[in-house]
Amino acid sequence: MKAIVYTSQTGHTQRYAQMLAERTGVPAYSLKEAGKSLRRGEEIFYMGWLMAGTVKGLQSAMDRYTIRGAAIVGVSPQGNGDLWTEARINGGYSDSGGRLFYLQGGYAPEKLGFFYRMMMKPMAGSVVRQVQARGEAATDQERRMAEIFQHGGDFVREEALDEIVRWFREGPHDGEVKAVPSVDI
Ligand SMILES: Cc1cc2nc3c(=O)[nH]c(=O)nc-3n(C[C@H](O)[C@H](O)[C@H](O)COP(=O)(O)O)c2cc1C
Repeated sequence: MKAIVYTSQTGHTQRYAQMLAERTGVPAYSLKEAGKSLRRGEEIFYMGWLMAGTVKGLQSAMDRYTIRGAAIVGVSPQGNGDLWTEARINGGYSDSGGRLFYLQGGYAPEKLGFFYRMMMKPMAGSVVRQVQARGEAATDQERRMAEIFQHGGDFVREEALDEIVRWFREGPHDGEVKAVPSVDI
């Protein structure tokens, strides 16, 4: 693997990328830096944060590099979004055969720019209101999500990378996370 390439808005994914770089000896670059440091087509591991179910920067990274594996970083404990649904169906792989992982990042509303804060506000508000309305019937997980959306939370943990580090050591890998042409039937 030539490099770890990441996109991060509030720092959780960046911290995971830097920890992974330290543990594997593979250098980490932001997607922007990678544009200057890596050649097109290089083999990379991509890490991107989840925004409304899609992985930020993944499309640009797919256009430019050969993505052998990717980590999706979101706020929920169990993972979500289209790509993670593919991984659950395919036993940890994208439809195109690249290895996928999910990492719980966190939620830091104070670090969000105006645009993303405005995007997040209605979603966060609706989760909090729904959980309040459910009262005693709300599950522990629902309560935890409401708490995170109200006060923020940081779930970045070194151990969460263990499985990815093992996968790096098993290399080389030949699967690829790439767009699969869809057939409408
Ligand atoms: C506009 C917006 C939409 C988001 N959508 C999702 C989502 O669909 N699923 C999820 O698990 N987390 C979602 N998140 C939470 C981020 O993925 C989470 O905060 C992540 O850790 C951010 O990584 P970063 O600190 O590297 O930017 C969203 C955050 C924002 C600001």
